[in-house]
Amino acid sequence: MTIWQPNLEKYSSPKYKALAQAIDDAIAKGELRPGEKLPTHRKLADLLGVTVGTVTRAYAEAERKHLIESKIGSGTFVRTTGSGTSFEISHAEQGVIDLGFSFALPLNQAELLSQELQLLSQDKKILQHILEYQPPGGMLHHREAGLQWLDITGIQSAEMERLIITNGGQHGFHSATAALCQAGDTALSCGLTYPGFSAVAQQLGLRHVGLEWDDQGVLPDAVKLACQRFKPRILYVNTRINNPTCEVMTEARIDSIAEILREHQVWVIEDDVQGCLQDKTLPTFTNRHPDISVFVTGTSKALTGGLRIGYLLAPQAVDRAIRSAVQASCWMAAPMMAEIVSRWITNGTAQNIINSQRDIMDKRQKLVGEFLKDSSFKAAEKGYNVWLPLPETRRAQEFTKSLANRKVLVKPSTAFAAGHFNAPQAIRFCTGGHTSLADLRTALEIISDELKQPGPELDFSH
Ligand SMILES: Cc1ncc(COP(=O)(O)O)c(C=O)c1O
Repeated sequence: MTIWQPNLEKYSSPKYKALAQAIDDAIAKGELRPGEKLPTHRKLADLLGVTVGTVTRAYAEAERKHLIESKIGSGTFVRTTGSGTSFEISHAEQGVIDLGFSFALPLNQAELLSQELQLLSQDKKILQHILEYQPPGGMLHHREAGLQWLDITGIQSAEMERLIITNGGQHGFHSATAALCQAGDTALSCGLTYPGFSAVAQQLGLRHVGLEWDDQGVLPDAVKLACQRFKPRILYVNTRINNPTCEVMTEARIDSIAEILREHQVWVIEDDVQGCLQDKTLPTFTNRHPDISVFVTGTSKALTGGLRIGYLLAPQAVDRAIRSAVQASCWMAAPMMAEIVSRWITNGTAQNIINSQRDIMDKRQKLVGEFLKDSSFKAAEKGYNVWLPLPETRRAQEFTKSLANRKVLVKPSTAFAAGHFNAPQAIRFCTGGHTSLADLRTALEIISDELKQPGPELDFSH
């Protein structure tokens, strides 16, 4: 392990302020990562040739700026949440371990982005190009990179003319849903589904019907019955790993559902934003039934959430309507963003980041397996999510609250209910994002201990 050693010569401020600023800069550049342990006061003082008091003052200053935190008996760490200069979606307070969101791991993306931007800044020709309005669907070389992304993630024989670049996965399925449905129409999904889709259904004024599922995904009988009763327009699915329940659909299940949907003229919106980390040979509706499937993917889960680029493939019959919906919502995906992502895809950076995410998630999921070996949890080897059904004595809301009291944040099953679907008692937690390995261990200890606790006392007061 290399010890972080800043160069203070470039700072003109007093030594302790310079060191606090160097910590801030190193976090911004990704040289110091969330959860990383800083050298002890004495070690850093020796390395820098300053007094221990200077390091102590600098660490106090950095702590005041919410950049680092000291843990009694363990040392000083870069904060996993709430760092001073960086934008955060999670506002968890100090000492809270937030496992509520499935985010990509912060690796060295900031450093890679800095290098890529430097190279891009030299390329005046491409800069001139990306300053212009682009053709519908995106620039040719951005679409070529998109096809390569689809290939990396296992989607075959996509046609270049049909690929549409979007501002991420959410934008992709929002556009597809808006193009295929009108207010009052019915959208089907698994009974527990990604809340981002529920939000779209609600905003577009759709009736959102949740379907029963088993360990292969939604049940064909449930799809059939819903088609007969509600005459839906679309079925939204996460085929290669359902968010939140982690089922993976088999070929047989995909085929039998596709047959029903064809008969009832229902489109599939296949959201593979989380699936792209999974085994690329897993079956999809798009590979098996491209005539009824709109495929949506994005780079947020594999690369990093701020790179808002997605790719959408639609059957010819609805391609134009979906292009119009993309155009109506934002005219085109931001070309600068598409340029960066395309460069990462074509120069191998994207593949390297995906490989690292997969390796780390694999190890983290094995750790989950060690802590939860006595419970019937579900997770994909390389996925971010863990689905944990609760003991009979516990309820999702109350369990989530008990964990929050112990400073671990997770999501109750009810957060994922489609429409009025009756959610079973379970929680979802995520093992990626900014959570350090040490914090993940602590959280898993707390979750497995909470599973052993009796349920809440019954209230006989009325
Ligand atoms: C299943 C699923 N689809 C889409 C998204 C959002 O994707 P994006 O960030 O590319 O818009 C998420 C984010 O968690 C997700 O879990």
